[in-house]
Amino acid sequence: AMPGLAAPNVPLVNPVTMAKFVDALPVPPIAVPTGTRTHAAFGSRPLPFYRMPMRAFSARVHRDLPPTPQWGYAGSTPGPTIVTRRGEPVLVEWANELPTRHFLPIDHNIHGAETSKPDVRTITHVHGARVSAPNDGWPEDWYVPGKSLTALYPGDQDATTLWYHDHAMGITRLNIYAGLFGGFHVHDDDEQALGLPSGEFDIPLMLYDRLLAKSGKLYYPVSDDPEAPWVSECRGDAVLCNGKLYPYLDVEPRRYRLRLINAANTSFFNLSLSHGKPFQQIGSDQGLLAAPTDRLNIELYPAERAEVIVDFSAYAGQSVQLRHQADGIVEFRVRAKGRRDTSVVPAALRPVQRIDPSTAVQDRVLALGEQDDSGGNPMTMLLDGKMWSDPISEKPRKGTVETWTFVNVTGDAHPIHLHLVRFQVLERRPFDLFAWNARKELKFTGPSIRPAAHEAGWKDTVRCDPGMVTRIITRFDGEPGKYVWHCHYLEHEDNEMMRPYELV
Ligand code: C2O
Ligand code: CU
Repeated sequence: AMPGLAAPNVPLVNPVTMAKFVDALPVPPIAVPTGTRTHAAFGSRPLPFYRMPMRAFSARVHRDLPPTPQWGYAGSTPGPTIVTRRGEPVLVEWANELPTRHFLPIDHNIHGAETSKPDVRTITHVHGARVSAPNDGWPEDWYVPGKSLTALYPGDQDATTLWYHDHAMGITRLNIYAGLFGGFHVHDDDEQALGLPSGEFDIPLMLYDRLLAKSGKLYYPVSDDPEAPWVSECRGDAVLCNGKLYPYLDVEPRRYRLRLINAANTSFFNLSLSHGKPFQQIGSDQGLLAAPTDRLNIELYPAERAEVIVDFSAYAGQSVQLRHQADGIVEFRVRAKGRRDTSVVPAALRPVQRIDPSTAVQDRVLALGEQDDSGGNPMTMLLDGKMWSDPISEKPRKGTVETWTFVNVTGDAHPIHLHLVRFQVLERRPFDLFAWNARKELKFTGPSIRPAAHEAGWKDTVRCDPGMVTRIITRFDGEPGKYVWHCHYLEHEDNEMMRPYELV
């Protein structure tokens, strides 16, 4: 049992006892437009139109477990992958066709989940998409079953691995836990000219952990403290990939491009390959790195992505496992023979122009903090000491460069995500917590740590370590309007660790 959490009222599955690698890995289908429509922003140009109905469904996550009731886009978790190209706008109708009651326990004491609000409310955000504010999935623009919202994604960005997920105020953690997420991939000509593995050899692996009841149902933890009903983290021991626990995938002895996506509520994944060889990482949150970089271990925090090349050519007839910590979570079974592999991994992928910090017009120093109750338990997590409902304090001007300095005064790491923009990590640096708490003074206690190669590309979510200041730089390009920035630990996000910002 986790501290602060009630003992589960139902028997849970112990994943260690489950048979490994008995289910084939599902690769989410590529979404097919239902037709074309026009949008005022693009005149009479016909744009691909997708309809994504959110529905309740049941599916087995493991051969030996009863079907698990879930909620998913187009009735599956992950939902179908939307595949687009740079410069190719698409329209997506996100239709809420869910039942009117949530099947997970709702804690009505959490911000935004007051009893006056309906149990089921959704709004979809495409994580990392460069879109205008009305299309971004503003958390308070949620709607109820029977309603839908059509959003325009202009495709005004480089090739990358994005993902869509629910973002409704105060209840995102339950909606995503229920299964409301899927992939959204952007291609571009430059990326496709590189000759990387593509098509059936380009596979998304959406990773997320759950607590599973023996009945097959998802179990979401509840607090054992009526005074502090907030569950501040949700970690499960069953690590799922694309809807299955311990799946296997038959592969050819050749190179694959794997898109690793952390879709978990609070857990990070520490990924490696069982043969002890490195991944060749080619991309991060916002697309290709300047050059491939070898990595024995890849740590992914919630919402972070890594694109990797794995070459199975020397393992014909053998198997290789993707591991999280010491445990195999996906098994690749390499066939004895395959088709000829004509893919390449060029030494140069895409130039990443570093943003010059001297061009920044503003440095915003923002604390990642918590509000304690008398017993020392955090009641809420705050950004810069402010609540969601406090007036907007961050108003970057369109086209300007800013640095944002996150001062983590908590004992945990927090993956911080900004909507709309892509950014670069400048540095991490240890600081004196006492000087900060006493005088709000930023006193460094060690040297600046520059990002390693895998963090030197474009990002949209950054791990902010405890005891560290984490500084990012971005150019606020995009349509003026209100966007959000938040911690991507969904339990934190739902309990005040989310703030609006306004591009003016
Ligand atoms: Cu992945 Cu604000 O979201
Ligand atoms: Cu957090």
